[in-house]
Amino acid sequence: MAEIILGIESSCDDTSAAVLRDGVLASNVTASQQVHKDYGGVVPELASRAHELNIVPVVSRALEVAGVKASEISAIAFTRGPGLLGSLLVGTSFAKALSLSLDVPMVMVNHLQGHILANFIREPGAEVREPAFPYLCLLVSGGNSQIVRVNSPLSYDILGQTIDDAVGEAFDKCSKMLGLGYPGGPVIDKLAAQGDPSRFTFAKPNVPGLDYSFSGVKTSLLYFVADRMKEDPSFLENNKEDLCASFQKTLIDILMNKLVKAARQTRIREITIGGGVAANSGLRSRILEEGARRGWKTYLPQLRYTTDNAAMIAVAGAFQFRAGVRTPLDVAPVSRMADF
Ligand code: KG4
Repeated sequence: MAEIILGIESSCDDTSAAVLRDGVLASNVTASQQVHKDYGGVVPELASRAHELNIVPVVSRALEVAGVKASEISAIAFTRGPGLLGSLLVGTSFAKALSLSLDVPMVMVNHLQGHILANFIREPGAEVREPAFPYLCLLVSGGNSQIVRVNSPLSYDILGQTIDDAVGEAFDKCSKMLGLGYPGGPVIDKLAAQGDPSRFTFAKPNVPGLDYSFSGVKTSLLYFVADRMKEDPSFLENNKEDLCASFQKTLIDILMNKLVKAARQTRIREITIGGGVAANSGLRSRILEEGARRGWKTYLPQLRYTTDNAAMIAVAGAFQFRAGVRTPLDVAPVSRMADF
């Protein structure tokens, strides 16, 4: 009998369900919420409501695309946290109800673990290229910036993390304050591609060890622009591309500096990235360049798996399911989850 894992992801503003058949992705269906567009960020109440509307059709569609009947499901993997509590409650409660009605086990997944294991999503017919354990993952999203040593699919050590803002937050906040739009990462990435990254320089943090800080560079950019605007009100408009390219380069330099240090200290040369900011084109090419120069083996998740998706939750859940991990029905979601 095939091992069928249903994955459910509802931590923020994407309702997603995926089916893994014997470790291979059979479907991955995501309903992205458009209701937040006018608000410049995700509105938690609206997100929960949209999940409630989407969850049944999304799960049904994922089963249909995979050609799987609900009665064939071996286990349900769901995101327990971190994320928005109301959003997580929808996915968790749905997973419990389905688990009870089908009499199949549930496996809770830390959302970050999903991002870290995104390179293990196997698509039918695609070449399998997966990092060997232990590997380092640069986990970069709107809520996290961490360097994680992944010892096995079930064992992680956080080697360094941000002491203030996450790198995605730096992208988003700066973009918003400069009037470039939300979410800031994709906007800045696009403008940066047309600009000169060496035109402007911004202050870099001096944080010991492998930790990060991004609040200073954000402030440095904002003061710099405000000062220039006093002399020339059209400064921002006329220099948007160079500002974005220079700002993005500074963030990537900060990220890479500590990643290189971590690789040197641990002597690990298997390097991956994960999370929303892993979609950044500048960061992706920089990892490949540094990797080629330093003899690393680098693995970039496919762009579609850098954003929130249930395929990565199903994969993380499958590793646990096979190791005998089961989650009791009295589990509650949590908005913060420091450890894996
Ligand atoms: O992992 P994610 O989808 O959500 C959570 O943080 O949970 O990450 C979202 C973050 C946002 O800060 C967004 O601006 C950033 O990922 N992002 C990017 C790019 N695409 C998304 N940042 C830089 N460049 C991009 N192309």
